Amino acid sequence: MKALVLAGGAGSRLRPITHTSAKQLVPVANKPVLFYGLEAIRDAGIREVGIVVGDTEAEIRGAVGDGSAFGLDVTYLRQDAPRGLAHAVLIAREYLGGDDFVMYLGDNFIVGGIDGLVDRFRADRPQAQIMLTHVSDPRAFGVAELDGAGRVVALEEKPEFPKSDLALVGVYLFSAAVHEAVAELKPSARGELEITDAIQWLIDHGHRVESTVITGYWKDTGNVTDMLEVNRLVLEGVEPHVEGEVDGASELIGRVVVEAGARVAGSRVVGPVIVGAGSVVRDSYVGPFTSIDRDCAVLDSEIEYSIVLRGASIDGVGRIECSLIGREAEVTPAPRVPKAHRLVLGDHSKVQISK
Ligand code: G1P
Repeated sequence: MKALVLAGGAGSRLRPITHTSAKQLVPVANKPVLFYGLEAIRDAGIREVGIVVGDTEAEIRGAVGDGSAFGLDVTYLRQDAPRGLAHAVLIAREYLGGDDFVMYLGDNFIVGGIDGLVDRFRADRPQAQIMLTHVSDPRAFGVAELDGAGRVVALEEKPEFPKSDLALVGVYLFSAAVHEAVAELKPSARGELEITDAIQWLIDHGHRVESTVITGYWKDTGNVTDMLEVNRLVLEGVEPHVEGEVDGASELIGRVVVEAGARVAGSRVVGPVIVGAGSVVRDSYVGPFTSIDRDCAVLDSEIEYSIVLRGASIDGVGRIECSLIGREAEVTPAPRVPKAHRLVLGDHSKVQISK
């Protein structure tokens, strides 16, 4: 069995972060979201992984390399443009050969891994196996309609009037039968080859498609709110440890990680929090569910429920919450007069100012 990991896509809902970084590489608890998926694949006993990449190929290659750091054997497959999930299967045809495979969307986050799912597929051998979960707004997803016996009868991609609240989770298991389906597809209204249409094709042609409704945690980390929520969840499970320096005037409460080379001085840190290597937290309050990446500075400030990316600095600005702060970003106070906000914002930035 192989894995096909999709790591193309523009990440428009995470702009401006994705102007300079692939969305799959935005860190959750200081580790790129893609790495959690790769680890789940490895833990399910799969070794050969094809990663479908687009414009951010160089960056994904830089982060994942040949996969050996994960115990994987990675092959990169270039998709010329984001033409849909089923298009990714189409271009991977030769790589996948006649093998079964798990398709994993690189920005999806699944708690508890995929071992159970993969084991079930191996034992049961349907043509396809999908995961579903109840969501509050199904219009943003592929949606499944089940019959009385719980069998999938129809799938619809981003329906305006959803027939259920069961969304397709971004992990799918396929036998080689899917290639025949994919070859028959025409682009959807949004101009993409939809994997939902391929699965529908399998159902319509009498193939067995099994589904599991998962109750565990799943998020598509395509937007900031979901990123922060996944970050919260992962931080809740971190083991507290302090390898960096914490001075006597500081207080660490709960699950706090201070990585080697990080310094905490005169500050109160209430976990779960992770302070990355080489970062400085001074005269500040860092509240629950905050990930501070490497080489950041949080000085004379307060921050909670946020993700701060590598090299960013926050200095003397009062309280920040629910924020995603990009690499090397600088947040500082404006001069006292005139009383005005001074902003240098990247394209597609979002700023909320409290008055
Ligand atoms: C894709 C699929 C959709 C699925 C979702 C899960 O949507 O097309 O069926 O529910 O992933 O993350 P996209 O992320 O391409 O909008």
